Amino acid sequence: MILAIHDVRKSYATAEGPIEILKGIDLGVAPGETVALTGESGSGKSTLLHLAGGLDRADSGAIVMDGDDLSKYSESERAWYRRAKVGLVFQQFNLIPSLTVSANISFHAKLAQRHDSAWEETLTDALGLRQFATRYPEQLSGGQQQRVAIGRTLAARPQLILADEPTGNLDEQTGDAVLDLMLELAKGAGSALLFVTHSTRLAARLDRTVHLRGGKIA
Ligand SMILES: Nc1ncnc2c1ncn2[C@@H]1O[C@H](COP(=O)(O)OP(=O)(O)OP(=O)(O)O)[C@@H](O)[C@H]1O
Ligand SMILES: [Mg+2]
Repeated sequence: MILAIHDVRKSYATAEGPIEILKGIDLGVAPGETVALTGESGSGKSTLLHLAGGLDRADSGAIVMDGDDLSKYSESERAWYRRAKVGLVFQQFNLIPSLTVSANISFHAKLAQRHDSAWEETLTDALGLRQFATRYPEQLSGGQQQRVAIGRTLAARPQLILADEPTGNLDEQTGDAVLDLMLELAKGAGSALLFVTHSTRLAARLDRTVHLRGGKIA
């Protein structure tokens, strides 16, 4: 397994006291495997992705990525983990406004010391971004920005891509095309994919679907 989640629990503090959102999650993702994560709104999908991405800590349980338990990482090791081991694609693209499209695409690959111009050129063409390469994010449509965010993640060839509804604000046709590209390019990069979606139609295109309900993987 590239990612192995064992009995993970997570609560949030609220005015009414703590509420437990994840109540013992077990999930494994094999190298190169593509897994859809579904579940109703509020079931904890983003929470789980944040934990796996090292953006937040679980209350208990283990999240083991490529043999290393994230809970043992210091803050600086978690920052390294986010740069070098995983690729995050969220609905907010978090592109860097002062960098061009091509500089955004190579940004994470450079941080992860895996900069590869030929691969970045391939991604730029495959994602239909060639004509926008010297533009800045604010000069792009939402769908174009989303493709830049996907290119930036794939450029670094992470072992695991964590994607939280990355096609959720695209029209159906564009969303399908972007998912197909992501699947094809993730295969090319050798990346596994954990992909949150509300769409059973999109989920069916991945190797496997897991469903989050009542704080557990059903
Ligand atoms: N920082 C927080 N403090 C308190 N409660 C939170 C916090 N973040 C999330 N929650 C609650 O945890 C639950 C799970 O949230 P999460 O964002 O993981 O759901 P989700 O499955 O991603 O939903 P959606 O499909 O709407 O994106 C929700 O009830 C949410 O209100
Ligand atoms: Mg969510």
